[in-house]
Amino acid sequence: VLALVTRLDAEAEQDWLLRLQAALPGEEMRSLRELSGAQLADVEIAIVADPDPADLSRIPDLKWIHSLWAGVERLVSELDRDVPVVRLVDPELGRVMAESVLAWVYYLFRHMPEYARLQRERSWRKLTYRRPDEVTVGLLGLGALGAAAASRLRDAGFNVAGWSRGPKNMPGVATFSGETGLDTVLARSDYLVCLLPLTRETAGLLDASRLSRMPEGGSLINFARGPIVVTRDLVALLDKGRLAHAVLDVFDTEPLPSDAPLWTHPSVTVLPHISAPTNMDSAARIAGENIREYRRSGVLPPSVDLGRGY
Ligand SMILES: NC(=O)c1ccc[n+]([C@@H]2O[C@H](COP(=O)([O-])OP(=O)(O)OC[C@H]3O[C@@H](n4cnc5c(N)ncnc54)[C@H](OP(=O)(O)O)[C@@H]3O)[C@@H](O)[C@H]2O)c1
Repeated sequence: VLALVTRLDAEAEQDWLLRLQAALPGEEMRSLRELSGAQLADVEIAIVADPDPADLSRIPDLKWIHSLWAGVERLVSELDRDVPVVRLVDPELGRVMAESVLAWVYYLFRHMPEYARLQRERSWRKLTYRRPDEVTVGLLGLGALGAAAASRLRDAGFNVAGWSRGPKNMPGVATFSGETGLDTVLARSDYLVCLLPLTRETAGLLDASRLSRMPEGGSLINFARGPIVVTRDLVALLDKGRLAHAVLDVFDTEPLPSDAPLWTHPSVTVLPHISAPTNMDSAARIAGENIREYRRSGVLPPSVDLGRGY
């Protein structure tokens, strides 16, 4: 038996069950909520979407966990046992994220927030056009999503500087790592895009001192996780006009509370965590392929490094 463990409502769980069962016709796919104690003893693999760790501890012989989501920081931090966690790596998610990054970089690059403001003021004013090769987009994180975004931006003619933990070689992208590498990327980034995982090391990374290394009038796009950015520091820099704009898709608390000042900040665009929605069909197909391969060869797909946190 394969157990689906989620905190989703019954209808959303059913949508996943149907797709996963179609992707794994030889397996018995059941929601954890429906499994008896005896059936739980037969479960080796849990497929999860934001699971309650208490539910996972009900599975005595759990060998590994397959997440249907790309970001697994909550699961990894809450997990109270040492089982491998495989996260979703889906080229379709990379394509969608790259499309979002390009769309919102264009939004800033073609001055859309300023033109909306000028229209409200009935002001006929032309802002200076700069070519893509006259500006730099900095990408923090060059993993499955960051690398897809970097190539899309490069192909659109932008200068791209990327930062990752280890060194990378990407044609047409200037790549950096380490603390001094981060300084270099920040100093070059007219537009800074965050696609890092949330870990002990990246929580609070983008604080006043690091954001202040960006060029005057730079803008931030956070499509990763809210707590990587220190919101009050960001807002202070936006208030001063030191940074021009922030496009935020992720927040410390989601949904963003209705009384949060970010909703009405003139230099902030609030998005409801939509930059790269999971495609249920491709996610179920990929989880299915991973599990079939494990059944065939006994080899686990690459799993999250629990010490590193991603
Ligand atoms: N908003 C949305 O809709 C949405 C959707 C999906 C995912 N996400 C977020 O996007 C994040 C990234 O996803 P992904 O699939 O691209 O992850 P990934 O493949 O694990 O890539 C993570 C990247 O960040 C780098 N990194 C990690 N810790 C670092 C550190 N301390 N210093 C420097 N670089 C560091 C890694 O460097 P190395 O390459 O050297 O390891 C890697 O390049 C997810 O964790 C999730 O939070 C958001």
